[in-house]
Amino acid sequence: MSTLAARPPRLNLRPPSGDRPFTAWAKVTAGAAFLLLFAGGMVTSTGSGLSVPDWPLSFGTLAPPMIGGVFFEHGHRLIAGAVAIMTLILAVLARRPGVPAAARKTAFLALGGVLIQALLGGLTVLMKLPPAVSISHACLGQGVFCLLLAAAVLSVPGTVFGPGYSRVFRFSALGFCAAYLQLALGALVRHTGQGLGWHMLWACSVVVLAALAGFTAWRTRSRALRGPALLLAAAVPLQLGLGLFALLMRADSTLIIGFKASAAWRTAHLSGGALTLAAFLLLALKSRRTAAAA
Ligand code: HEM
Ligand code: HEM
Repeated sequence: MSTLAARPPRLNLRPPSGDRPFTAWAKVTAGAAFLLLFAGGMVTSTGSGLSVPDWPLSFGTLAPPMIGGVFFEHGHRLIAGAVAIMTLILAVLARRPGVPAAARKTAFLALGGVLIQALLGGLTVLMKLPPAVSISHACLGQGVFCLLLAAAVLSVPGTVFGPGYSRVFRFSALGFCAAYLQLALGALVRHTGQGLGWHMLWACSVVVLAALAGFTAWRTRSRALRGPALLLAAAVPLQLGLGLFALLMRADSTLIIGFKASAAWRTAHLSGGALTLAAFLLLALKSRRTAAAA
């Protein structure tokens, strides 16, 4: 009787076990979304946005001849369809018992984001590319990519919202917001030709926050933080170089190389923006791990 009374109450302190298929699929889907951003950027950079006048079908079919701008516009739709299906599968996998609640919610948000994104894509075609819709489409696309990446990170056991490295978190969370505003300004430049001065000026804040986040992350000696810190250190200078190049190409798109190659380099600047955003996001999420888990 007395031994029973002395037994401590059973507490369920087991951390979520994680779910490897979910984590792996979230990573693959985030990778596919990254490629989709490039494919979308090529639609804008080559001026192919109105090559296919209808939606959801293309010239009334699912397989139009892939000639000229149709290659970029319809190709982008096909990749978008694949990413939408992959995100749906991720949302189904998110219901598995080992998936932490934060990762599950993020996967559901990503699915919602992809559906709104497809709607905006359709609207921008049917309304003949109004800048407000095209800019929203450009910004939400990067947001969907971030949500998929976040679902992958949050599904790994140990990514708990503990005290972590608070300075790294503050700088990288601020950096993430600054980089997001920077790509919104970039989208404004691409779709209206306005705001280039603001975009170049705001790049300074991204550079300063990247230096602070990267430096404080490096000093923690945490392996989990050093990877994204290196990514940030590579992405930001690359982005500045590509930005300068995009500026020259805007003045004359065939100045140094042919039209398609110059479109690809301008689009690389968009992809570099996604990498910068991803590096800030990884640092912000991983710095919230408890020091022991990192
Ligand atoms: C579902 C996921 C999708 C993602 C992540 C995505 C992403 C993107 C991105 C990043 C751009 C480049 C924006 C820029 O350069 O500023 C773009 C452009 C474009 N996308 Fe999508 N897209 C998606 C779905 C769709 C769909 C379903 C359509 C259907 C028509 C579509 C139509 C377009 C068009 C027409 C453009 C060119 C807009 C312009 O030049 O103003 N997108 N997309
Ligand atoms: C780290 C800093 C930077 C980031 C994260 C960034 C990001 C971006 C992104 C994502 C876009 C495309 C937006 C879209 O349509 O979706 C863009 C456009 C652009 N950016 Fe930047 N940018 C940066 C720095 C710069 C700098 C320093 C310059 C100039 C020297 C520059 C010049 C441009 C130009 C000219 C465009 C329009 C390109 C075009 O019309 O194809 N950027 N930027």
